[in-house]
Amino acid sequence: MEKQIKRIGVLTSGGDAPGMNAAVRAVVRTALSRGIDCVGIRRGWNGLINSDFIRMDTSSVSHIINKGGTVLYTARSEEFRQTAGQDKALATCRLLGLDAIVAIGGDGTFRGALALSRRAAEKGYQLQVAGVPATIDNDIGCSHYTIGFDTACNTAVECIDRLRDTMQSHERCSVVEVMGRRAGYLALYVGISVGATAVLIPERELDFERDVVEKIRRARLAGTTHYMVVVAEGAGNTMEISQQIHDEIGLDPRVTVLGHIQRGGAPSARDRETASRMGYKAVEAVAQNAGNCVIATQEGRLVVMDMEKALAMTKEFNMDRYDILEALTNNSGIR
Ligand code: F6P
Repeated sequence: MEKQIKRIGVLTSGGDAPGMNAAVRAVVRTALSRGIDCVGIRRGWNGLINSDFIRMDTSSVSHIINKGGTVLYTARSEEFRQTAGQDKALATCRLLGLDAIVAIGGDGTFRGALALSRRAAEKGYQLQVAGVPATIDNDIGCSHYTIGFDTACNTAVECIDRLRDTMQSHERCSVVEVMGRRAGYLALYVGISVGATAVLIPERELDFERDVVEKIRRARLAGTTHYMVVVAEGAGNTMEISQQIHDEIGLDPRVTVLGHIQRGGAPSARDRETASRMGYKAVEAVAQNAGNCVIATQEGRLVVMDMEKALAMTKEFNMDRYDILEALTNNSGIR
């Protein structure tokens, strides 16, 4: 017989992402509308380890849909990686009578959720877990889109547009580092959107002459006197790249690391809407006893994927976007 879900926990874990609050709101409100109790677990998995929680009612998520960050706080928990930490977390789940947990975060968050559910099963306790993908890196294998990516792109684009003004006035070269961990999604998307001279991403092996020097030369031959080089944080050391530009073509670049600026700010409409749908779907899946799952997007549609299979998936990097970037870069027609 299917277990009736009476009470669920919701948490945010890992790096925060704009739209996490909208997801929390959707989880809480959907649960309550189905007569399911909802407990907010604070500071990621540490909240379960330390019994750091808060009862959620409909007004506890009022006026947060437009807010960046996460009202539940977030953390990366070393202790939770160990079975001793998971056992402490499980004790809190038992004490509170949690039937399921909706975990909002990246793939590390989902791995933690799955480990906890398995540990619970070993001890005869049934705990369902549902993952909602949220990270500005957009690097989760099973999902085409992750909450926060759109807002982070928009923030980076706005910053780089400002940089461009001053680079243009001074006829300078700018080397800008964007986040993305080991992935180049953010850098490539932003690079296309700002019309960058060159974009360096970890998915493409760097040939400095081809990917940087020649691109700047072509831009100069086409009449440009300022250059924007966008570097994904996983693609190389921004200071060294800047130095190399100086050494090889004599420019005097300015380096900007956008950093955590990209993680904050009001979520875009896309992130609020996606987060709302994902949060809703996560509770629906849990209420229907779908088992451990991730709410992923595939071709713009939401799908409920088995969590183990979802975690085994890798995302194929779409090099078409790189080709588009190349075609649109000012190349002065030289071949
Ligand atoms: O995963 C999100 C992210 O912002 C990455 O882009 C970045 O590499 C990392 O988190 C930074 O982590 P922290 O907030 O611990 O400095």
